[in-house]
Amino acid sequence: MEICNEKNDKPEGMLILRTMSMPANANPNGDVFGGWLMSQLDAGGAMMAYELTRGKVVTVAVDEIVFRNPVHVGDVVCVYGRVVHIGTTSIKIQLELWRKRNTESRTRRVKVTGCGITYVAVDDNGVKRTLPHDLRENREQIILNGYDSIYAEKEKDD
Ligand SMILES: CC(C)(COP(=O)(O)OP(=O)(O)OC[C@H]1O[C@@H](n2cnc3c(N)ncnc32)[C@H](O)[C@@H]1OP(=O)(O)O)[C@@H](O)C(=O)NCCC(=O)NCCS
Repeated sequence: MEICNEKNDKPEGMLILRTMSMPANANPNGDVFGGWLMSQLDAGGAMMAYELTRGKVVTVAVDEIVFRNPVHVGDVVCVYGRVVHIGTTSIKIQLELWRKRNTESRTRRVKVTGCGITYVAVDDNGVKRTLPHDLRENREQIILNGYDSIYAEKEKDD
């Protein structure tokens, strides 16, 4: 049975990563290994954090992860993310991982898991650095409306 928690009808945030689970990602039961799914969440969040902080980041903390539904080998795995906190050197991204059977329609997705991950911006020596000024200045708007609300327009002009 597929379990639906909270308001699990549609993903929240922007699509950051889309990939297919392969036999090498399976656990001994034949389903996809939870550790691989966790690494997809971290990779997705890191991509978003690199882009936003315009430099290197490291993962400092991961909130609780609960797996609600299994992923099968061959399923399409989609990671969605949205910024929920912008601090002085850190940024927190709320991530969701959804699965889609390869044979089903694009919108027939099931939520598998999700968590918040905090990244710290670092310099080339791994020392924390202050987040870019515009990111801190626009923190409310980015958290409320997504970062595209600010950067999509800017990138068009660049
Ligand atoms: C992350 C790291 C650079 C932090 O360095 P530090 O000088 O100790 O920094 P601080 O303790 O002042 O924390 C820096 C930021 O992280 C946040 N932070 C620290 N611990 C946290 C936690 N458990 N949960 C959430 N945020 C946390 C702080 O609130 C601070 O945010 P802010 O500046 O936006 O207020 C350092 O601990 C480190 O290199 N850790 C290893 C990272 C790593 O290897 N990750 C795995 C591979 S990417």
